[in-house]
Amino acid sequence: MRADFQSWVAAHQARFEEVLRGLLPRADIAPQRLHEAMRYAVLDGGKRVRPLLAFAAGELAGAETARVDVAAAAVELIHAYSLVHDDMPCMDDDVLRRGKPTCHVQYDEATALLVGDSLQTLAFQLLAEHRLNGHARFPHPNPLPQAGEGANESLRELHANDDASRQLEMVRLLAVASGSRGMAGGQAIDLASVGKSLTLPELEFMHIHKTGALIRAAVLLGAHCGSVSAEQLDRLDHFGKLIGLAFQVVDDVLDCEADTATLGKTAGKDADNDKPTYVSLLGIQGARDMAQRLHCEALETLAGFGDSAQRLRELADFIVLRKF
Ligand code: IPE
Ligand code: IPE
Ligand code: MG
Ligand code: MG
Ligand code: MG
Repeated sequence: MRADFQSWVAAHQARFEEVLRGLLPRADIAPQRLHEAMRYAVLDGGKRVRPLLAFAAGELAGAETARVDVAAAAVELIHAYSLVHDDMPCMDDDVLRRGKPTCHVQYDEATALLVGDSLQTLAFQLLAEHRLNGHARFPHPNPLPQAGEGANESLRELHANDDASRQLEMVRLLAVASGSRGMAGGQAIDLASVGKSLTLPELEFMHIHKTGALIRAAVLLGAHCGSVSAEQLDRLDHFGKLIGLAFQVVDDVLDCEADTATLGKTAGKDADNDKPTYVSLLGIQGARDMAQRLHCEALETLAGFGDSAQRLRELADFIVLRKF
């Protein structure tokens, strides 16, 4: 990683952590245990790849950072919810996540279920709340009741002039990426595929949905916070699709190759759970080659953007070369 990119990542990660801290319900507000568990699942961990993609796309589109913060938070909350549910005994049955006990281990299964539910709805609440056009400024009687740490007032102001139809498109985009035609659908296929050997197109379909959809949405949401042409949006969409698939191919490789301490989650889980992956289908080298091909194709989609896409290129490199 180049030093300049490394400091860009570190600065955004640190700043975004505080944004999340301010947007999540405070742990001393009822129901305390649920709020504490939500904060446990989201804060102090994770690479924040999806927010970083949103920030990079936002920079390309000339968006204000505070505006992208809301979109990035929405997508990261959905991601965190997907991890909490993914780890539950009815799904992958994992005990370690981001170097800590998984949510249902630290709390209990019912709480983990509700953490997922609540993070998901909070994501859409944020996208809706930060529209704030004229009379729709505070659409509910108790605006941001849990917004504890003061980060939200300025964000509200910033979004006062948002174009409502663009905001609606962002809500729609995240909903599709999260639901049965996106992440949740991909997870359903993943669970239905245990013990089976999928064809390459079937595996690609699963990965594009379970992981690719949210990554693709992160890029698009970042771009929607600024302004890009329809043609540029198409290219960014294609980039997001390719890099989202590459992300899960690399996740499959790391599950086999990396150790539990480095990953912060139990290594070797896919084989233990008899999941079809790019590694089980193509072998380690085949999966690596696949990730490399997707990486090259993803970079090609950015060719017309010049320097404005440099952060996206660097993130694509990071996604494919990462060790955790
Ligand atoms: C892990 O995602 C789950 C997948 C979708 C493959 P990340 O590797 O982005 O997990 P965190 O957010 O860094 O913990
Ligand atoms: C998870 O895929 C994708 C999600 C939607 C959470 P994995 O099951 O491979 O993710 P990890 O390896 O547990 O992080
Ligand atoms: Mg899984
Ligand atoms: Mg899993
Ligand atoms: Mg995995």
